[in-house]
Amino acid sequence: MYGFTTIFIYALAAELCRRCCRILLAAFTGPLSKIPGPVIGKFTSWPWLIQVIKGNQMNIGPRLFQKYGPVVRVGPADILFADKAAIQKILVEDDFRKSHDYERIREDPHVASLITETDKVKYKQKRRQLSPAFSISYLNGLEALMHECIQVFTRVLDTKCNEAHGAVVIDMNRILAHLTSDVMSAASFGGSFNLVESDDNTQMNIFHSYMRRLALDAQFTFIKYLPGVPLASSEISVLINRIVSRRRQEMEKGIAKKDILQIFIDTNDADPVSFTDKHIEEEMILFMIAGSDTTSLTATFTLLLLLNNQEKLRELRAEIDSAFPSQDDTITFAKTQDLPYLNAVINESMRMMPIVTAGVVRLVPETTIICGYEIPKDTIVSTWISEMQRDPRIWRDPNSFIPERWISNYKGVAADRKAFMPFSAGSRNCIGQQFALKELRLILATLLQRYELSLVPGQSHELRVHTVPWFKQGFYNIGVKRRE
Ligand SMILES: *[C@@H]1O[C@H](CO)[C@@H](O)[C@H](O)[C@H]1NC(C)=O
Repeated sequence: MYGFTTIFIYALAAELCRRCCRILLAAFTGPLSKIPGPVIGKFTSWPWLIQVIKGNQMNIGPRLFQKYGPVVRVGPADILFADKAAIQKILVEDDFRKSHDYERIREDPHVASLITETDKVKYKQKRRQLSPAFSISYLNGLEALMHECIQVFTRVLDTKCNEAHGAVVIDMNRILAHLTSDVMSAASFGGSFNLVESDDNTQMNIFHSYMRRLALDAQFTFIKYLPGVPLASSEISVLINRIVSRRRQEMEKGIAKKDILQIFIDTNDADPVSFTDKHIEEEMILFMIAGSDTTSLTATFTLLLLLNNQEKLRELRAEIDSAFPSQDDTITFAKTQDLPYLNAVINESMRMMPIVTAGVVRLVPETTIICGYEIPKDTIVSTWISEMQRDPRIWRDPNSFIPERWISNYKGVAADRKAFMPFSAGSRNCIGQQFALKELRLILATLLQRYELSLVPGQSHELRVHTVPWFKQGFYNIGVKRRE
């Protein structure tokens, strides 16, 4: 007869053995075992997840694809794809649901935002609710607001130039982040944050620490329950409460607005149980991040690429000068929308340096075949749009900045719009893409119309990604001088 302790130890050993066998079986015999990748990835995703938390996956991913090809296994049930047909299938044709990662970054597991909703039906509902604030006519109505914000921006730049008696070096990454925050807050929340004018970085810093926390919270869901650890959004909540209560006061005074904040407040008033105050907060955080940093980074990356390709910069400036011959000519939505080279430059910039630099993650709902591999249910599949957009099988000279490829064939090849997804694709693509493009065109055209921009050499282009990319050096400087 065995005693209790012996049986207990025996059982433990057997359980351990069972787990090891399972891991070994999955590593070497499961359907995913045929997919190439680092050996450690057969057993555990941890080395990969650590890179994700460090914001370094965007630098490691391309190296893995280089070594193993367009399909790479980085964990027992964790696969990266850079292949166009695979990405089309995952995001567009089969339109898989979002992975549990998105649920894990919710602060309250029951409160989902437009980004963190993983249920396809509920997502559709949310998106429909917001669609009035993204209709063409509504967006066109925002033109005057955007102009006001951009005027403050040029006034600040002019003052800096005057103070320096000519040329001045500006951290474009910072001032553009302030500008797009001002535009987003003016358009969505009824009042500009006025960050360009104040140059106050407190708010940006709060958002940046929030975004870093998200990656950590997504992997360690228990973090927020540890004693002494604040919620990721604790500082943002204060800011948001202020905006919401100001709006509610205005409503009492009978001032009516029709913006995104109002949609949230009306939804909350109509059904405070299923759309709570916490829902308002989550949605607003999302809009603050998705509606500002993404656009400012795209603008900064575009300037970076232009400054490093001076002949393209001259070409674009010639186009803008002929569309707006006098510096007093107003840069408009309508006119910039039709400038072929400007739009080609923006596309080419988003192809080479998209904002979504790492994988867009989905969950496989039923066993399926992708790229000839059998992918079982519940596998996590990441679509690497950034890698596809530099695929040499699709793009000639993929690492060169060639806006012309968007206007006519380049080396006999037309730009493949199906291999270009800067706003993601499928049902979960970016709701704000037209807003962003309108804003980008105004910002870039205004900068080139009014200023001589120059490269500040010796800067690092190294990036990290925490939700959106960051310059590792923390800034991106550009020389600015008023044009005569
Ligand atoms: C830029 O890309 C979009 C999306 O693929 C496309 O509709 C548009 O025509 C492109 N612009 C130019 C100038 O090629």
